[in-house]
Amino acid sequence: MKIVVGITGASGIVYAINLLKALKGKAEVHLIISDSAEHLLEAETDMSPGQLEGLAGHIYNNHDFNQGLCSGSFLFDAMVIIPCTMSTLAKLSNGIADNVMTRAGAVALKERRTLVVVPRETPLSTINLKTMYELSLSGGIVLPAMPGFYNKPESIEELLDFISARILDLLGIENRTSKRWG
Ligand SMILES: Cc1cc2nc3c(=O)[nH]c(=O)nc-3n(C[C@H](O)[C@H](O)[C@H](O)COP(=O)(O)O)c2cc1C
Repeated sequence: MKIVVGITGASGIVYAINLLKALKGKAEVHLIISDSAEHLLEAETDMSPGQLEGLAGHIYNNHDFNQGLCSGSFLFDAMVIIPCTMSTLAKLSNGIADNVMTRAGAVALKERRTLVVVPRETPLSTINLKTMYELSLSGGIVLPAMPGFYNKPESIEELLDFISARILDLLGIENRTSKRWG
């Protein structure tokens, strides 16, 4: 499977790192990192940009539209934006494709491919809720960074695994990333 992963500048970049590790060996990963995400990487982790990029097979410049991802003719199976800022979410809901991330998201929507966004913001404004609703109507899947607690998680890693497992399930990738209920 060819999966596009977009990382934006919302808090919780560790969700993206966990997902990239979970996808290792299971999919061909094409990675886009927004400028703001690079700041969050520095603020919230000890990882360097090079180490983050090392978790993916293909890296894209978010400002260079002369790349395959920007065209519907470039075939990928699904795209996940994790974590997804309210800004990128609003752009996707309104058809604004001003960088490679939002263009790839627009391609996923127009080509009816799976698009999963993992928003991270709290509290949510009416505008945020409206954009999520509208993206959902357009075929996007809104999977908020809201891990469940029924497995009695004992570490942050287990909370991250919960979200990665739900995403892998949506992508149709067999996994035992997180314990299932029952
Ligand atoms: C420390 C920090 C934390 C942030 N956390 C969030 C967040 O959780 N959710 C969000 O929507 N924006 C958050 N932002 C704001 C975004 O980074 C900002 O809106 C940016 O323009 C988003 O650009 P992007 O979507 O291209 O990454 C945060 C910014 C900083 C500096």
